[in-house]
Amino acid sequence: MTDPQTAIDAETTTSERDPRIHERTAGEPQKGIPFIGAGPGDPGLLTVTGKELVEAADLVVHAGSLVNSDLLEAYCADAEQVSSIGKDLEELVPLMCEAYEAGRSVVRLHSGDPAVYGAALEQMDALEHEGIPTYLVPGVTAAFAASASLRTQLTLNGVANHVAFTRPQGKTLDPADDHIGEFVGMGDVTTCIYLGTHAIEETMERLLEDGHDPETPVAVVYHASWPDEDVIEGTIATIGELVEAAGYRASALVIIGDAARKAGYERSYLYGDWTNRTATEGETGD
Ligand SMILES: C[S@@+](CC[C@H](N)C(=O)[O-])C[C@H]1O[C@@H](n2cnc3c(N)ncnc32)[C@H](O)[C@@H]1O
Repeated sequence: MTDPQTAIDAETTTSERDPRIHERTAGEPQKGIPFIGAGPGDPGLLTVTGKELVEAADLVVHAGSLVNSDLLEAYCADAEQVSSIGKDLEELVPLMCEAYEAGRSVVRLHSGDPAVYGAALEQMDALEHEGIPTYLVPGVTAAFAASASLRTQLTLNGVANHVAFTRPQGKTLDPADDHIGEFVGMGDVTTCIYLGTHAIEETMERLLEDGHDPETPVAVVYHASWPDEDVIEGTIATIGELVEAAGYRASALVIIGDAARKAGYERSYLYGDWTNRTATEGETGD
């Protein structure tokens, strides 16, 4: 078996586009190992295709505590279940490879959507290099569940025209690459911070030092869609202390911006007089 790093290097340096891009639609079951977004937690938020694939699996490699055990219990109690936590590529890739080559049905279950802070691609490239086809099945990312919990929209007419998915500086991100302050400074952006619960006080302090409005709304949704979901609402000035007091250090989504409090939005054109005109100015909405 090729060393996963060598496989990744080979896959990332090729300029050839994968012909499957034009042959398959997203969501269409395909040959190979599916990398499935399990959604934010509630088993009901797994897609229909994801559920069917998980139900048919012999081996489910999942993202440990980030995937709700109720989902595993409900859809694949009889399958072999392996947590990926604490396993490196050198262990995970042969595990999936050998099971697939032995004729077993293998699925890889990521939390939320694999395309958002998921590290799916490196596993897929290493498997592909071994001749094992893989594909993605999207899921509901945490920001969408958090926005539903807050009963708001991430884009909101007159409030936020843009959404940023970001994370604070941490083990894998250089301080120079931390753009949270820039997104917040743009004003009409809803900033969704993943992997940032432990650093919330520091992040807010940095925003205050940089002169951002202390009254800017911030909501923290812990375990969105899980039975113990919790919503903490505050501002740049107050949220750090509130989250610290609640004791959350992980598994929460931080949303910064007026959309978090659905403050001051305007009725959209979509359901106004404009609706009756033909759409000549591009896409509208739903
Ligand atoms: C490694 S990232 C994975 C994100 C995932 N791929 C997604 O699309 O939601 C893990 C981070 O996602 C966020 N997260 C995942 N599930 C969550 C949930 N149910 N509620 C709130 N935040 C969640 C937290 O910020 C957590 O630190």
